[in-house]
Amino acid sequence: MFDRIAPAYDILNHLLSFGRDFSWRCRLADAIVKNEKLRVLDLATGTGDILITLLDRNPNIAEAVGLDISENMLAICRRKIVRRKLADRVSLVRADASTCGLAGESFDVVTMGFGIRNTPDAFKTLTEIRRLLKPGGTALILEFSMPASRILRSFYLSYLRFFVPLLGRLLSGNNHAYRYLDKSIENFHRADDFRRLMQKAGFSDVSATPLTFSVACLYQGTRPDESND
Ligand SMILES: C[S@@+](CC[C@H](N)C(=O)[O-])C[C@H]1O[C@@H](n2cnc3c(N)ncnc32)[C@H](O)[C@@H]1O
Repeated sequence: MFDRIAPAYDILNHLLSFGRDFSWRCRLADAIVKNEKLRVLDLATGTGDILITLLDRNPNIAEAVGLDISENMLAICRRKIVRRKLADRVSLVRADASTCGLAGESFDVVTMGFGIRNTPDAFKTLTEIRRLLKPGGTALILEFSMPASRILRSFYLSYLRFFVPLLGRLLSGNNHAYRYLDKSIENFHRADDFRRLMQKAGFSDVSATPLTFSVACLYQGTRPDESND
């Protein structure tokens, strides 16, 4: 599905979020520590906008890996990386985020934006993120969520159920993808529930920061450093 919508993905992303996606990515990128040389992995990197924002706002990132399952999304990402002269700090990998095969304990920060909802088992993906992080490392996950207010929620659901599939179909030519987007958001964990899932997967200091009336949420957690116990 992502292979098919790749050419229209960025424009639809900006339109359907009313441009809020820029500020969500900046919030994620600014949650990273600034005073150490870092090795960072961005899972479900897609067309690379999170990866690029991370690198632009954190010159202390020495090396970044972008991983995605869709070759067409990665192809767009690769072009942007080259155009912005970031290729010497970035490598791209095609793999499944929940069983990616990269070495364990090898990243200071693992990020994932609007991707964990698409993996078949969010808990398994969280366990994989924990495995990839160095002890003391940070996971930052951006995902859609639901407004708490009943009135806002009902507006948002109408928007998701009717307007998003319509605009998605018109601009991407794909009937299924933007219906799937609505269903996957409605069926995904609520913020408190996802926070608990992160704790169950072994993260400590887990926080959930609501963004834009809780339409999205930034989750942060730490892989505990057990050698300090
Ligand atoms: C909604 S896009 C998000 C892209 C990007 N992170 C962003 O914020 O714009 C979801 C991405 O997840 C990727 N994806 C879906 N399932 C995946 C999996 N199992 N492993 C890795 N990537 C996956 C898709 O190919 C797609 O690029």
